[in-house]
This record gives sequence, structure tokens and C-alpha cells, in this order.
Amino acid sequence: MFLAQSATRNVGLVILAIVLIGFLVYLLFNLLESRDEVGSEIELAANRKPYHDDDILETTMLDRSLMSALALLAIIGLALPLYWLGEPGRQEGYVDNTLELWTEDGAEAFEENCSSCHGGGGAGGIAPYALTAQGSGEFVASVDWVAPSLTSVLSRFTEDEVRYILNYGRNGVMPAWGAPGGGPLTEQQIDIIIVYLRSVQKDSDAVQAAVQDGLIEEGRLELAGKETPELVSQLEDAKRALASATQTGLSSQIDPAQAMVSAANLALGNAYPTETVAAWVAEISDPDHAEYLTYGKLLFVNRADSGAYSCARCHTSGWSFDGANDRDIEGNPVTQLPDGSPGYLQGGGWFGPNISGGSEIAQFPDFDSHVDFIRKGSVDGERYGVAGQGSGQMPGFSTRTDDDIIEKVDEDGVTVEREKTWPASLTEDQIQAVVAYARSL
Ligand code: HEC
Ligand code: HEC
Repeated sequence: MFLAQSATRNVGLVILAIVLIGFLVYLLFNLLESRDEVGSEIELAANRKPYHDDDILETTMLDRSLMSALALLAIIGLALPLYWLGEPGRQEGYVDNTLELWTEDGAEAFEENCSSCHGGGGAGGIAPYALTAQGSGEFVASVDWVAPSLTSVLSRFTEDEVRYILNYGRNGVMPAWGAPGGGPLTEQQIDIIIVYLRSVQKDSDAVQAAVQDGLIEEGRLELAGKETPELVSQLEDAKRALASATQTGLSSQIDPAQAMVSAANLALGNAYPTETVAAWVAEISDPDHAEYLTYGKLLFVNRADSGAYSCARCHTSGWSFDGANDRDIEGNPVTQLPDGSPGYLQGGGWFGPNISGGSEIAQFPDFDSHVDFIRKGSVDGERYGVAGQGSGQMPGFSTRTDDDIIEKVDEDGVTVEREKTWPASLTEDQIQAVVAYARSL
């Protein structure tokens, strides 16, 4: 559509150029041809009324009619190409205008239906969820389930995949919104929400900054766990106390527990300032470092932007609501390791399949093909690895290009139109590291 419009514009420009050149040539010849008037020789006939004399007729009058003819010609010659020039702009304006209106309406629909869990502007948030026992359906605990930020979702999923998630919801925690899944929104409401989501996507720098912040948060816990485990246990105890207090719903118990969590976090922050942790994270990101796999793990469990860039939210049961620290009504940890201690079986599978126990070496015998799968994610109906069948629900963590969204960008002062490419969630180095870690599980 946009190509066709620029073709129309080019035709308009060529016609305009021809008219202008023609006009200049005409002016040139006209000036060259013109000579001084020699004056009239014919007397006025008796049966005629006197009219302008030849002097006037052949000069002022003739010039006047010629000029008005010329003006008309100019109007026709100029107005047509000008109209032609304006038309694509008008059509483009119409498209821009429609997208703008959709974005505005989408923003409203989003704030109304989605922001309670996903945060204002899709910044990420929490969905309160009543956890029930599998099978019996009995109430286990009320937990806070992370609702990922949606400000980079178009980097990881196509718009069709997002539409599928909106139509059918996800795992019962994210309700179905579209009619196909029995939800309340119309197809058009879903469409305008997706158009709105385009407008809140972060740029590449902002995504990396968020990933980096998350790595530092996770890195602080990891580093403290190695060097001063008592600081980490203090925080975990506080979190458990808060989880138990939350089950009671009594603010007289919740408030002091909350204060304990804040104090423990403060102590950790003081012992491990951001610069110290950032330097350590940079150090272990070197593939030759002995703790390189720990770097991969930090990426795997990164809580930045409510887990948007992590793998654990789909591949680790209980991680999305901190099941190792959450307590059920009897005070037991909600998520346990096979030996009964509170914790997660990292990569043990949940919404996404179990990727631990060496299963990934079998699915992707070749490291590079594994990396490539994480870059692109799965495609509905397409096979992957040795025996994988994609559903389109495994996100891609590299860049993603939308060939039907054209953006105008400034390249060295020239505005060019090109297909929209959404920034990568993880850099190439980060993808390699997370894959190395996942293969070690
Ligand atoms: C009741 C809380 C809640 C509401 C309301 C809600 N969501 Fe969600 N949404 C979630 C949770 C929780 C998840 C993550 C589910 C999981 O962990 O499997 C999620 C996942 C998603 C995902 C997948 C993101 C990803 O990166 O995997 C998209 C897209 C999404 N929601 C969009 C929306 C939109 C758009 C709306 C409004 C129409 C909405 N959600 C309303 C809780 C909610
Ligand atoms: C939004 C949920 C989600 C997230 C986040 C996610 N995955 Fe997945 N993953 C899936 C699903 C679902 C599948 C199954 C394939 C399908 O349905 O298309 C899958 C499949 C896989 C597979 C293939 C497993 C097999 O044996 O078939 C690997 C490997 C994998 N994911 C690794 C990762 C890594 C590494 C990350 C983080 C960088 C990650 N996933 C993040 C949902 C997710």
C-alpha cells in the first residue's frame, strides 16, 4: 500500500516537473519572439462604433486575454499534479489518523481490562490468585502471581500469537478475553489493544537497561548466598513470615512482616552495593569464567519487568508466585524440591516442558541449533529440534521484524520507510549464556 502510494507521488512529481519545465520554455520563447509594437494603420469604419484603437487591442487587451488564458492553464497544469501529490498524503493521513484513534481507544480498553494485573501502560504487575490443589481443587493458598510487563511482548511474540493469548488466556491466571475463549471482548477490542501495545514497546536500550537491573538484583542474592548466607536466610525468613501473615489477612501481622522484609533487603543492599554486584556480574559473564553458568542462571530467573525476560516463569513450577517462600494455610511451603525442602526444580517444567535432566541435549544435540531456537521461539505447527512440535507459545528472545508495520526513521537526515523491527529481549551473548545454563540442568 505504502509502495503504491510513493509510486503515485513519483508520477505526480514527474508531471509537475514537466509542467514547470514546459512553462519556462514557453516563457523563454515568448520573450525571444516579442518585438516592439509598431502601431495601428487602419482608420475606424463609419458604420462601426468606436472601439479601442489597435494600439490598445494589440497590446493591453491581447495581453490581458492571453494572460488570463495562461493563468487558467497554469491553474489546471498545477492544480492537477498538486492534487495528485496531496492524495497519498491524505490517504496516509487517514491511515495514521485511524491508528492514532485505535491507539487511544486501545489505551482506554487496556487501562480498563488489563492494567489491574499488568500495571499502568503494561509496565508489569501482580495477579492475586487462589492456588488450588491439583485434582481435588481444594484451596491451598492465595498467592501473588507475576503478570509480566507487556512493554517488550512484541519482541517475543507475533501479533497473531499475542491475539491467541488474549483470546484464550494463559494457565487460568490470565483470563480469556476474546470470544473464542469465552471472554468478554470483541475481535475489534482485541485488535485495538494490540495496536495500543505497539505504542508502549521499549526501545533496545531500555530493554537492556531493564535486563541489567534484574541481573543485579538476582546477582546480589547469588553473591550474598555464597559469601554471607545469613543475610539471604534473613530475607527468606522475613518473606516466609510475610507469606504466613498474608494468609491471615490481618494488617496487624502483615505490617511488621513487611517491615522485616524491607529491613532484610536494606541490609543486603548495604552489604552489596550496586557497583560491587554489577562488577561481579560483568566478570562472570565471560564464557571462560568458572561461574559462567551462574550468569546463565541469573538470566534464566531474572525478575526484571515482572519476569518478562526470564525462562523460569514458564519452565519452573512455582517460580511465578515465589512458591518456595509462600506458605499454605498449614504453614508448609507451597513449592518443594523432590526431597521436601522448599525450593524450585529449576527448568523442571510447567507451562513449558521440562528442560532439565539432560532432555535438552537430546532435543538439540547441536548447541547452535539450541541457540537458534531460543532466538526465534516456536512457530505454531512447525517442528523444532529432534522431536519438538511448536505451538507458537515459546517466545523468541532475539529481534523480531513485522513486515506489515512500516515505520519512518531518520537515517542521516533522510526519512526512510522500513519494516518495524522490535528489539531483542536478550543479547546474543546472553542467549548463549542462558542456553549453556539450560543445557547443564
Ligand atoms: C487477572 C490478572 C490479569 C489480567 C486482568 C490480565 N492479565 Fe495478562 N497475564 C496475567 C498473568 C498472571 C500472565 C502470565 C501467565 C503465566 O504466568 O502463564 C499474563 C500473561 C499475559 C500475556 C503473555 C505475556 C508473555 O510475555 O508471556 C499477554 C500478552 C497478556 N497477559 C496480555 C493481557 C492483556 C492485553 C490484558 C487485558 C485485556 C490482560 N493480559 C489482562 C494476568 C492478567
Ligand atoms: C511464555 C512462556 C515461555 C517462556 C518465557 C519460555 N518458554 Fe521455553 N517453551 C515454552 C513452551 C510453551 C514450549 C513448548 C513448545 C511450544 O509449545 O511451542 C517451550 C519449549 C522450550 C524448549 C524446547 C523444549 C523441548 O524439549 O521440546 C526449550 C529448550 C526452551 N523452551 C527453552 C527456554 C529458554 C531457555 C527460555 C528463556 C530464555 C524459555 N524457554 C522461555 C514456553 C516458554
